[in-house]
Amino acid sequence: MTTQLHICHHPLAQHKLAILRDQKTEPKKFREVVRELAMMLVIEATSDLPLTPLPITTPMGATTGHKLAENVGLIPILRAGLGMVEGALTMLPFAEVWHIGLYRDERTLRPVEYYNKLPVSPTVQVCLVLDPMLATGGSAVATVDILKRWGAQRIKFVGLIGAPEGVKKLSEAHPDVQIYLAALDDHLNDIGYIVPGLGDAGDRQFGTA
Ligand code: PRP
Ligand code: URA
Repeated sequence: MTTQLHICHHPLAQHKLAILRDQKTEPKKFREVVRELAMMLVIEATSDLPLTPLPITTPMGATTGHKLAENVGLIPILRAGLGMVEGALTMLPFAEVWHIGLYRDERTLRPVEYYNKLPVSPTVQVCLVLDPMLATGGSAVATVDILKRWGAQRIKFVGLIGAPEGVKKLSEAHPDVQIYLAALDDHLNDIGYIVPGLGDAGDRQFGTA
């Protein structure tokens, strides 16, 4: 499996993930925990961002702090990725948010693009693609394809649960894209759902089962 895969083994992440997996968890709680996990995973995914020195003055005198050297873009894949935006913005309040709308055709499992709000040319140096589920990997690969055609240079995928099939597909199509997840699950079932997974991340957030 790819060396670009990072699993967050933090006890808080694993505790929160169990809440999401539980079929009894209601949408309100589900959304809250998606937001919290997104925050944790974004911290991991940004741990290698470059810094530039920043001269500052504390009440005690002059010193040198740091600030991020690059602009970060958040690219949530609609719908389910929406739930990760607020947590990501909590950590990156200056990030730009560019939405991509994709849904999986239930028969073919292929992603269908229905919305793209990217500006004409890239405005950020680092793109974090947000989507809780990496199942077949079709949606993630299609989004990275779109971002690369747009001119994005550095792209990371930030999700919650991945299937081995999706991780393989994304890392083979785009070996430069690092993948951040809270769990790598067992397999996909015959209708493309992650097992054990958490069900349909969009439906569980938005109460549309
Ligand atoms: C889900 C999920 C991903 C996609 C993952 O979205 O949020 O975008 O499926 O599956 P894949 O790896 O096989 O492409 P879905 O298509 O159900 O749309 P929704 O978010 O609007 O519910
Ligand atoms: N999309 C989901 O929301 N859940 C899955 O298990 C697979 C794709």
